[in-house]
Amino acid sequence: MREVCIIGCGMTKFGELWTKSFRDIFVEAGLKAIDDAGVDHIDSMYVGTMTSGLFVGQEHVGALMADYLGVAPIPALRVESACCSGGMAIHQGILDIASGNSDIVLVGGVEKMNDGADATYALSTAADQEYEVYQGITFPGLYALIAQAHMHKYGTTRQQLAQVSVKNHYNGSMNPNAQFQRKVTLEQVMNATLVADPLTILDCSPVSDGGACLILAPLEIARKLNKPIIKIIASEAATDALALHQRKDITTLNAVKVSAEKAYKKAGMKPSDIDVAEVHDCFTIAELCIMEELGFCEKGKSGKFVEDGNTALDGKIPVNTSGGLKSKGHPVGATGAAQAIEIVEQLRGSAGKRQIKNAKIGLAQNMGGSGASSVVHILKKLND
Ligand SMILES: CC(C)(COP(=O)(O)OP(=O)(O)OC[C@H]1O[C@@H](n2cnc3c(N)ncnc32)[C@H](O)[C@@H]1OP(=O)(O)O)[C@@H](O)C(=O)NCCC(=O)NCCS
Repeated sequence: MREVCIIGCGMTKFGELWTKSFRDIFVEAGLKAIDDAGVDHIDSMYVGTMTSGLFVGQEHVGALMADYLGVAPIPALRVESACCSGGMAIHQGILDIASGNSDIVLVGGVEKMNDGADATYALSTAADQEYEVYQGITFPGLYALIAQAHMHKYGTTRQQLAQVSVKNHYNGSMNPNAQFQRKVTLEQVMNATLVADPLTILDCSPVSDGGACLILAPLEIARKLNKPIIKIIASEAATDALALHQRKDITTLNAVKVSAEKAYKKAGMKPSDIDVAEVHDCFTIAELCIMEELGFCEKGKSGKFVEDGNTALDGKIPVNTSGGLKSKGHPVGATGAAQAIEIVEQLRGSAGKRQIKNAKIGLAQNMGGSGASSVVHILKKLND
């Protein structure tokens, strides 16, 4: 199998992009990535989008985007794995290059959630329709159940959940692409409008429009470019039961755990080798559970781990330096690609005020639904 690198990336600002269409958003991100890579052609393309059919009435996304990006008639495929679609598009692109089938591959994702369908309904299609959605539960409701269980089982506190939001909004305040570039306090998070007990609006990722793209190439091509070489040293995915009641323990995100274990093994690394991580904080409780599944802290101890500042910009393992889904925004199909872009920026040393000194190895974790699909990428900078 060939080794694969990221040679270019580009994204739109995330937020309410009323003046841009679904295709405009993807094309803007794609052109930025192509410019950044300095390539003159694309061999194939993978576009992650969760439910563009419901949000904007558009299916057949691969061909549409290849046409409007000006790269047709290349093979172009849509990848769907709920909120994990962007990360899985990267995974597919890697396989395409590793197998020797393609050299230059554009991977990424896009979602336009503010036009068209009711976002809560569209998002709920990623949960189990018969056993969960039909009974009236929504995504904030599912994660609220996980939060209640974590608090009950491990003594995790309301403040500890809120601390995730405070940290991520602080990081997002330094990210020009973030939807919310404002800081929030613990009190503001805890006293904000209750969405699903114990989660308030400031525990939730928002409804967002946005796109993010990366250009992948084999190591031999990356070596010829005059820029830091960012190699993908692991890309591993896993799944779990869609419905919470089917799981042995709802405080365990097994797909995250398995995908992380496989990724560490592939990379020959352990959690303490990671310098910076972007994780899927669709709700504050998700970031806490993910800390445990990635092995950054012991099971049940993530509340204290975050409260003690271990995941802050100057902490032991900075997490969600971009602002995470909470503050940067969560255009569901684009999120996994945007997470990888933040890691690339950190490894290149171009993350501005959010820069982590001497970051050499970064991890991006993207998941779908209430954690039924997960993909973990580990990236390494090979030179300066
Ligand atoms: C939490 C949620 C229900 C709030 O939606 P809403 O009640 O329709 O909120 P509105 O759009 O009316 O916004 C009201 C205000 O709150 C702000 N806001 C909305 N969501 C916010 C969020 N998540 N965080 C911070 N501020 C938010 C808006 O910018 C707006 O501010 P303004 O009055 O200054 O303009 C919605 O953001 C949501 O569903 N989030 C979860 C998305 C999700 O499930 N994603 C998939 C994860 S698996």
